[in-house]
Amino acid sequence: MEISWVFIVFGEWLLALVFLLKLFNHPKRKLPPGPKPWPIIGNLNLLGSLPHESLHHLSQKYGDLMLLKFGSKPVLIASSPEMAKEILKTQDTIFASRPPLAAGKYISYNYSDMTWASYGAHWRQTRKICLTELLNPRKLNSLEYIRVEERQTLISRLFALSGKPILLKDHLTLFTLRTINRLVMSETYCSDQSNSDASIVVTYERLQWMFDEWFILSGVINLGDWIPWLSWFDLQGYVKRMKALGKNMTEFYKYVLEDHKAKRKTEEHYIPKDMVDAMLHLADDPNLEIKLTTDSMMGLIHDMVGGGTDTTATTIEWAFQELLRRPNIIDKAHHELDRTIGKERWVEEEDFSQLPYIDAIIKETFRLHPLCALLPPHYSIEDCNIVGYDIPKGTTVFVNAWSLGRNPKYWDRAEEFIPERFIENNIDIKGQNFALLPFSSGRRRCPGYSLGMKVVRTTMANLLHGFNWKLTGDTKPEDISMEEIYGLTVHPKKPISLIMEPRLLLHLY
Ligand code: HEM
Repeated sequence: MEISWVFIVFGEWLLALVFLLKLFNHPKRKLPPGPKPWPIIGNLNLLGSLPHESLHHLSQKYGDLMLLKFGSKPVLIASSPEMAKEILKTQDTIFASRPPLAAGKYISYNYSDMTWASYGAHWRQTRKICLTELLNPRKLNSLEYIRVEERQTLISRLFALSGKPILLKDHLTLFTLRTINRLVMSETYCSDQSNSDASIVVTYERLQWMFDEWFILSGVINLGDWIPWLSWFDLQGYVKRMKALGKNMTEFYKYVLEDHKAKRKTEEHYIPKDMVDAMLHLADDPNLEIKLTTDSMMGLIHDMVGGGTDTTATTIEWAFQELLRRPNIIDKAHHELDRTIGKERWVEEEDFSQLPYIDAIIKETFRLHPLCALLPPHYSIEDCNIVGYDIPKGTTVFVNAWSLGRNPKYWDRAEEFIPERFIENNIDIKGQNFALLPFSSGRRRCPGYSLGMKVVRTTMANLLHGFNWKLTGDTKPEDISMEEIYGLTVHPKKPISLIMEPRLLLHLY
């Protein structure tokens, strides 16, 4: 008995010694430079209403890899192509996770979608499902007819409004929402006004509110995420908004799932026809690596519809903001369209290799207005080292895509909108060129690249091909505001009012 006590005391003493030795022998970590943090808030006081711009200015003082504290948590900011490459390529496996923020919990079904899922088996499975069931090239080609029908609806709708002032943003959002809803769930499940049709559960206005709110709340700096003891108070009211949004989302997606389930049961020889059907089929598969839950399915439907709506519509909106400031670019685009397509037909997806100038306009729009100005946060799952600096496990990382596109080492006259810089060179936008990352790069890069580009290209080209555009009243090109509203995606603060007139043969509209 006495001997065992001696052993325990000796053991504890040894453990204490090892702990003390570790404490004092721990080599001092070399952390990246950054502003000195305040107690409690860290550096949160340095973020303005446009965090990408605040961080861009800070990077000019502290360098292209800086370490800040948001509350008590370390946050790494990568602001140059070299540092973006370190995070998204060289050390991609370490940084491919997401931090556990309130948005992932309340509006992405407790991280069970793809966008907010941490790196691992669940994320891999969700990505595979989306890539196989909707986003693979064969599937996308077979669904081209939906994109063509919806594009024609948009054009006819605009034609009917010829000569009257419109907000292009409203029409673009409706068009992308209808298109992606049909691609993912066959029907739109929405109407212009609430009506009595049982298959209509939500108005477009409501659905658009859901996506706008989702993108804003997914990008906000929520104090409770960074100063955990404050999360109880929800001082900014964001968590309250997230919960309300989560409830609305669940009502809608549950309805969509139940409706698909009912059709599977009642229709004899039911043939799965969309991504929702495919997921329901997989949910019954006992051999699936990880069970596909209702939450996961709702999260994935949302990822696809949200990912395909706001992104494409807002890219086109930014392009038009820029073009109406420079009518000579519109003239050049018309010239290319008239020469290549002619005035007797619309532009099709297969025409795109013949339209390098329109492509250059789109790339230049992505450079100056990357939709995700700060790429959604990545998160380190191990300690690592970048260019001599120690980065602790559990660090949140933002790559500042807005800074990359303005880096003077890579871009001449970086602040100016000059599509010609993309002519006769093949600058990649799919993640190989780290000075231009509209779709990010590495494991987390956007899985919707092909679909997004198909919609952006044909819509941009046909809006330019089909209409002459001008500003309303006495608004001058120089009056167009390029101010932004920040969220997970960045929008123009003041959408412009436009008037259009048809420029093709009238029977085409
Ligand atoms: C112009 C169109 C689009 C742009 C500019 C865009 C941009 C991006 C960016 C920057 C990311 C973040 C990658 C990262 O975290 O590093 C992303 C992720 C994502 N995008 Fe897109 N996107 C577009 C269209 C689409 C479409 C059409 C879909 C689906 C139908 C989609 C679905 C997603 C999803 C699910 C993710 C999360 C991926 C993950 O976390 O693994 N996107 N997108």
